[in-house]
Amino acid sequence: MIRVLVLGAGAGGGFPQWNSNSEACRRARVGDPFARPATQASIGVSADGHHWFLINAAPDLREQINRQPQLHPTDGLRSSPIAGIVLTNGDVDAVAGLLHLRERTPYRIYAHARILSVLDANPIFSVLAPDVVTRETLSTGATTALCGPDGVDSGLRVTPFAVPGKVALYMETTGDGENFGTQEGDTIGLEITHEGQTGRLVFIANCAAVDEAVRARCAGADLLFFDGTLWRNDEMVTRGEGVKTGQRMGHISMAGPEGSMAALADLDIGRRVFIHINNTNPALLGDSPERTELAAAGWQVAEDGLEITLP
Ligand code: MLT
Ligand code: MN
Repeated sequence: MIRVLVLGAGAGGGFPQWNSNSEACRRARVGDPFARPATQASIGVSADGHHWFLINAAPDLREQINRQPQLHPTDGLRSSPIAGIVLTNGDVDAVAGLLHLRERTPYRIYAHARILSVLDANPIFSVLAPDVVTRETLSTGATTALCGPDGVDSGLRVTPFAVPGKVALYMETTGDGENFGTQEGDTIGLEITHEGQTGRLVFIANCAAVDEAVRARCAGADLLFFDGTLWRNDEMVTRGEGVKTGQRMGHISMAGPEGSMAALADLDIGRRVFIHINNTNPALLGDSPERTELAAAGWQVAEDGLEITLP
């Protein structure tokens, strides 16, 4: 069994975003039930309901822990059910939350060498004392057992795979032609299973394109979390809320013939859930025509606190 807990459904900035005065963000601020706030994207996975591995550490992690009883300490004066963190990229919305977990309770950080090098190069992360918080290297294509800080095998297995994407915004070095200095490992997707059981979770919160390799990973998944940043590639530009397209940010859009819904439509997937939803995406709004269209295509939008159990 794999228990899945959505800690945050939003993209970088969350919903409402601090500097957005859009109608959607204003609706979220006044408690409109069709514009529910979303913290930044993260999920927790657990084999036993007691030891949790978080996929990415959002800047909202402190708030996410406080509102989820599963993540509250129960063992003595200092402890945490959080056994480890698996990172899929080095974006601020994926790593900044590590800084909340700095009070000498042990856990493991699992990430590709490329992302570990980002942590290693930023001295602020040395606040996670290496004698307490260990850093474990994930390699694409290789299956790793997720273990707690005491070395006990959780039973969960993670297999990272390369996904078309981009280096973290603050790491961009070169121009468009050179893909901003993106290297292997800057963006990965994850397959997660429980040893000896059948359920398979696929997590891809950052994806620039659905190629045949991505389709092959998604095919047959019992549960798919997929990049739901934007509805349309140019929505931030046309709404006057930004200058970047989804493609420039490394995110495929949901809708249209070039979108993720079309690209994944013919695959056998148990449950399809969009996560990492940007505050400009109309699909965030429960009463939007885009939400209706998405549901008709067999998708749902993640919400903070959503729980799903895989057999
Ligand atoms: C993204 O997903 O594109 C990033 O979170 C952007 C950012 O770091 O602000
Ligand atoms: Mn992001």
